[in-house]
Amino acid sequence: MPVPSSTSSLRKLHVITWGCQMNVYDSARMQDVLKPIGYRATAFPEEADMIILNTCHIRDKAAEKVFSELGRLRLIKQAREKEGQQTILAVAGCVAQAEGKEILTRAPYVDIVLGPQTYHRLPEMVARIARAGKTVIETDFPVEQKFDFLPAPTTENQLTAFLTIQEGCDKFCSFCVVPYTRGVESSRPVSSVLAEARALIKMGAGEITLLGQNVNAYHGLTEDGQPCTLADLIKSLAALPGLKRIRYTTSHPRDMSDDLVEAHKEIPALMPFIHLPVQSGSNKILLAMNRGHQAGFYMEWIEKLKRARPDVAISSDFIVGYPGETDKDFEDTMSLVKQVGFAQAYSFKYSPRPGTPAANAPGQLPEDVKDERLYQLQDLLRSQQDSFNQTLVNKVVNVYFTGKGRKDGQITGRSPYLQPVHVIGDETLIGQERPVYISQQLTNSLGGQIKELENT
Ligand code: 5AD
Ligand code: SF4
Repeated sequence: MPVPSSTSSLRKLHVITWGCQMNVYDSARMQDVLKPIGYRATAFPEEADMIILNTCHIRDKAAEKVFSELGRLRLIKQAREKEGQQTILAVAGCVAQAEGKEILTRAPYVDIVLGPQTYHRLPEMVARIARAGKTVIETDFPVEQKFDFLPAPTTENQLTAFLTIQEGCDKFCSFCVVPYTRGVESSRPVSSVLAEARALIKMGAGEITLLGQNVNAYHGLTEDGQPCTLADLIKSLAALPGLKRIRYTTSHPRDMSDDLVEAHKEIPALMPFIHLPVQSGSNKILLAMNRGHQAGFYMEWIEKLKRARPDVAISSDFIVGYPGETDKDFEDTMSLVKQVGFAQAYSFKYSPRPGTPAANAPGQLPEDVKDERLYQLQDLLRSQQDSFNQTLVNKVVNVYFTGKGRKDGQITGRSPYLQPVHVIGDETLIGQERPVYISQQLTNSLGGQIKELENT
């Protein structure tokens, strides 16, 4: 199979991304790593010389979904083969990590299976396919850190960017596959994070979201070998010229710290919007989930954050129907939600993941009970989100403009709370932040006027 080199003609690469923001980041980095050997992104799988399916294993019938998508991609690969064109088909991400061998057995037409920690080796894998024509599987957890081998990011004009600073998890919540698919917790060194942030800013990113499965457990080393906290890292990032906004996700209540709360008070660039998953409001269920904290502990951090930064808004994740969850446990979740008042939240029915302790726990609940609880919870969360959006009407918030709106003369941006905001404004404001008077709440967004344009 021919393999492109930097001197041969360009090849087309199509990446399909499922799952979390870290997968979005990984997909972008896979494109960066394949660029020096001639691959350029295409939106059309039918014309791609290489297709990467970047998968997610967190919930539902993850593996089945992958096999069904692979069936579709196989047809594309076969059609191209008939026309004498080769397609390298790669499966990446957490399903690849967890089900690598199964993929090779059930979908032998797949050329590369690679886990989330090995994609820096993609050029070498492509070369191996070209040499030997055999399937390549790379799902080990290498001793080298992939970040040491990745080129600088290359996506131009990306006004908002993700930057992975921490990966993996050692907490082993009983329901979660992440510790098995992403490996042990590790933090990138400070210098490596700052170098990537500078490269992103240079290419236009005014807003950077720091990513990690337990991002507030960050403890990367400084040049002189000292561990640095997330709060200190944020301080260093805030000092970089051109960076207007900093966010981080996903945090764990157990890794909250006073210096991070303090950072929210002191650093204007740090957005007052925090995703802090609690999963359940029942102490019994939190214990069964092996979360390592109780509902009261979570509430204490929310109070501290609100005291430090009165305009802070909280987002969370919830699981309903965890094994053994009674009506009373579910009621505890509903009352925690009422107590906190969330600006936004994600909620899921418990989904047994193979190999995790909860999958075999007694007290698995029927789907109709899970459905009913999810419905009730989502109803409450939706009304809280509506009320939160309503509180911004008639207020002035800073909006970072990221693109043209759908209507003529309209531009669109993000509030500090990630709501889309539409205004009539000049395109030259794209990439800049402006105070906006919010005048209306639309279905999934807010409408307003740029403050300077007002006569008041
Ligand atoms: N079932 C349902 N939801 C899950 N999550 C993680 N594992 C499961 C599971 N087995 C949810 C958690 C987590 C989010 C990323 O996905 O709420 O915070
Ligand atoms: Fe999964 Fe728990 Fe680790 Fe989050 S903290 S990634 S839910 S094991």
